[in-house]
Amino acid sequence: MTIPERLFDWEGRQSALQPAGLGAWLVEWMWWLSLGMFAAVWLLVIAATLYAVRRRRSPHQAAPDGQVGAVRAVVVATGATVVVLLLFFALSLSVGHRAAGATAAPALTVEVVGKQWWWEIHYLDARGNRILRTANEIHLPVGESAALVLESADVIHSFWAPNLHGKVDMIPGRRNVLALRPLETGVFRAQCAEFCGRQHAKMAMMVVVQSRAGFERWLAEQLEPAAPVTERSLERGLHAFLLRCAECHTVRGTAADGREGPDLTHVASRLTVGGGFLPNTKGHLGGWIANPQALKQGSPMPQVAMSADEFSAILQYLGTLE
Ligand code: CUA
Repeated sequence: MTIPERLFDWEGRQSALQPAGLGAWLVEWMWWLSLGMFAAVWLLVIAATLYAVRRRRSPHQAAPDGQVGAVRAVVVATGATVVVLLLFFALSLSVGHRAAGATAAPALTVEVVGKQWWWEIHYLDARGNRILRTANEIHLPVGESAALVLESADVIHSFWAPNLHGKVDMIPGRRNVLALRPLETGVFRAQCAEFCGRQHAKMAMMVVVQSRAGFERWLAEQLEPAAPVTERSLERGLHAFLLRCAECHTVRGTAADGREGPDLTHVASRLTVGGGFLPNTKGHLGGWIANPQALKQGSPMPQVAMSADEFSAILQYLGTLE
């Protein structure tokens, strides 16, 4: 996949005020309504305060029914407050209910496991079997409900793709379900929204919303194992990869079956590397392999000792894993 030119320009890609999903749309609607309603209440309170101050200063005050008028004003204001609060209580219940109802019959179930500091992703088939293991990028068909089953492998993380929905915590030992229904195609950015250690800020992910046909094509490609290596230079790359990287990474179709790090079978098809914070270009991928600790200190990805030949052979090989 080619990287969209503005991928790392966040404008509009990570904004709760530019909804592209049902949940985010409902939240945004409620947000504007609250802003309008509370701004109106605030203006009324200020106006009443100014009025009261002016009356006090007036020499013609203290009419005999002043006490009765004040009591009535307090009763009316209290009543209005209760009505406004009840209205918002009912509205928020209904918004929450509608947003949660988006997964009544999800077209797709995706498990997302938060890890320090990346996201492991499993796509499930209709019977709930895991069919695909990938990382840091979710693809969804537009207009269809998806259930994201959120878990954590270590500490508390939080899944937040503000253009699509509100945030939901990922808690060790629990399975929280987030109902997503994207309404527009596009690439949106998700960010871990719960402090989870020193690289919390570099725990991001891309959510790619596509047409149904585009999604099916993507899924079919991802389900394939890596294409067999034929060129001599790529054989060197694969050999070096098996030696240096396979303990932690899987490339389906080869002997590499490490489970510690992200599955790299189709790493070249992804938009980002390093847990969603670097664009997936040859330069960034090379920098990430050469010195991950300089870019993301504390990451479980170690700086692996290798020769310059091995390094460039691995980089070339990874670039072919579309
Ligand atoms: Cu994961 Cu913050």
